[in-house]
Amino acid sequence: MRLNTRILDILRQQAVGETVTICGWLRTRRDSGGLSFLEINDGSCLANLQVIVEDQLDNYESEVKKLSTGCSLRVQGALVASPAKGQAVEVRAASIEVIGWADPETYPLQKKRHSFEFLRSIAHLRSRTNALGAVTRVRSALSFAIHRFFHQQGFLQVHTPVITTSDCEGAGEMFTVTALEPGQLQGAAPFAGDFFGRRAGLTVSGQLQAEIYALSHGLVYTFGPTFRAENSNTSRHLAEFWMLEPEMAFCDLAGDMAMAETMIKALVAAALDECAADLALFEQHVAKGLIDKLTLVRDRPFVHFTYTEAVAELERSGRGFEFPVQWGIDLQAEHERYLCEEVAGAPVIVTNYPENIKPFYMRLDDDGRTVAAMDILVAGIGELVGGSQREERYDVLAARMAGAGLDREQYGWYLDLRRYGSVPHAGFGLGFERLVQFVTGMQNIRDVIPFPRTPGSAPC
Ligand code: 4AD
Ligand code: MG
Repeated sequence: MRLNTRILDILRQQAVGETVTICGWLRTRRDSGGLSFLEINDGSCLANLQVIVEDQLDNYESEVKKLSTGCSLRVQGALVASPAKGQAVEVRAASIEVIGWADPETYPLQKKRHSFEFLRSIAHLRSRTNALGAVTRVRSALSFAIHRFFHQQGFLQVHTPVITTSDCEGAGEMFTVTALEPGQLQGAAPFAGDFFGRRAGLTVSGQLQAEIYALSHGLVYTFGPTFRAENSNTSRHLAEFWMLEPEMAFCDLAGDMAMAETMIKALVAAALDECAADLALFEQHVAKGLIDKLTLVRDRPFVHFTYTEAVAELERSGRGFEFPVQWGIDLQAEHERYLCEEVAGAPVIVTNYPENIKPFYMRLDDDGRTVAAMDILVAGIGELVGGSQREERYDVLAARMAGAGLDREQYGWYLDLRRYGSVPHAGFGLGFERLVQFVTGMQNIRDVIPFPRTPGSAPC
């Protein structure tokens, strides 16, 4: 089957006089003086293509006059210069073929704007709206930009497993994967007779496996779905989300932060360059000031605080935070947002967190109290990136693992990487949906992933 012309290509090339065949879904139909004006969208771009249909067409009365929002069509016709404002070309239809009807009595998408809450209840149709369609394109552009960026920087992509027996973050938020029936999970060793002979789960992070490949190939990244059974019903948490995790050998915390900042700037620049029409929609209808915000992120250096400085800044603020601040607490979204929105006016990188609030693999600082961690915080979201220099010293790591209660035998392979040719290395994880939220200004993380999984909700 030959592919049809996409509306995006027509608008880019605007070859008046050419005959085109386009396929898409009807947004609106308006009739006037023996003509029908159809607005068609094919998802390739935000813009609709206007199609003018004359009443001489064979199926004008029998079909065209019955078309309603949501019908799918194949249109053939000539591109002509458009007299209408806001579009350079339109199609004068030579034929209209109705591929699929959409009953106007029951089709849930009307011409009016729908709330995002309502659209969440029709996950199978919401990508046909302007806003969710735009999210889909921005998400795809950002995903491609990630691969392009790391390819250009000389990184290799490594596919880390979805099913794993390591709980990287040590927070006990792993979904268990079992082939047993619930009643069979009993006794002192409930997983001994299970598929893998031990407890396995869905990955919470590909980092530990990425470290293996960084210690053979130097620069690697993994980018895939990640799962957390954390009961956080917020606008920034999902139970299934995508995480990008680069890992770099012969790299320290400073190199890690520099790479993350360069990458975020490159991704924001890509969105500004490649998704201008979609970002203009978000600017107008979702987040005023979005384009200026993104331009500043692209152009201005990020602001650095140590955790200790950040806590001092928060204590000095005089703000009545919901979670009171003192040295040793984990920063909450309200603190993170205050730091970038009120103090820095830019993304903030907070480093050297207390060791007891961070996972076992982070490199212990010389003071013995903090670790070489870094979180990147952005306006409206809070934590976008979490990363660190990894503990490369065998003895220190072994002690940290014992302190965290990790089974030395099970994580023996991780310790081996410190026995054989260990090197300083570092990496970070970027929550991809939080990036899409940041770039689009969308308020709720459930609206930037096609099929959100949250506590109590996995409809299809
Ligand atoms: O800070 P986190 O937990 O870091 C790690 O998993 C490290 N292993 C990463 C690494 O160093 N390779 O998660 C990284 C990022 C967070 O900063 C946040 O953006 C996102 O993942 N994230 C979530 N996004 C959506 N829903 C959730 N439940 C998330 N939990 C973390
Ligand atoms: Mg984190």
